[in-house]
Amino acid sequence: MSGAPDDLVQAAEDAATRSHSPYSSFPVGAAIRTTAGETFAGCNVENASYPEGWCAETSAIAQMVSILGPTARIAEIVTTAPAGADGTPGTPCGGCRQRIREFATRATVIHATAPGGAVLTMSIDELLPNSFGPDRLL
Ligand code: THU
Repeated sequence: MSGAPDDLVQAAEDAATRSHSPYSSFPVGAAIRTTAGETFAGCNVENASYPEGWCAETSAIAQMVSILGPTARIAEIVTTAPAGADGTPGTPCGGCRQRIREFATRATVIHATAPGGAVLTMSIDELLPNSFGPDRLL
């Protein structure tokens, strides 16, 4: 069994089923548990003008902030994406690492999963080492 909580994995996989990814055929889902215990999820939403699409993590963070406001923090986030040929799960892209960092704490945990497959569990410092964050500016 993975260390990723089943309910968050389920929420991420449910969101991935609603992905709009006709161009990449790469459906991604993300589900966040906030430090206060709420859950938010999102999927990738692609666009015929390719650069205008956005990632699942971005959708989930937008949901969280839209409902709770900017003080919300991510306790845990699960992403789900098709496994690579070697069975490893897809990990958040560089831009999404920075977006997660914006709402992370030192204790934030990131689980990258593939449906029915491997799980990679990381701290925020492992996901984005030596990161630039809001503490530099606020
Ligand atoms: N994608 C995500 O949703 N999250 C990531 O962290 C990596 C990539 C999406 C973007 C695009 O719709 C598809 O996966 C292929 O890159």
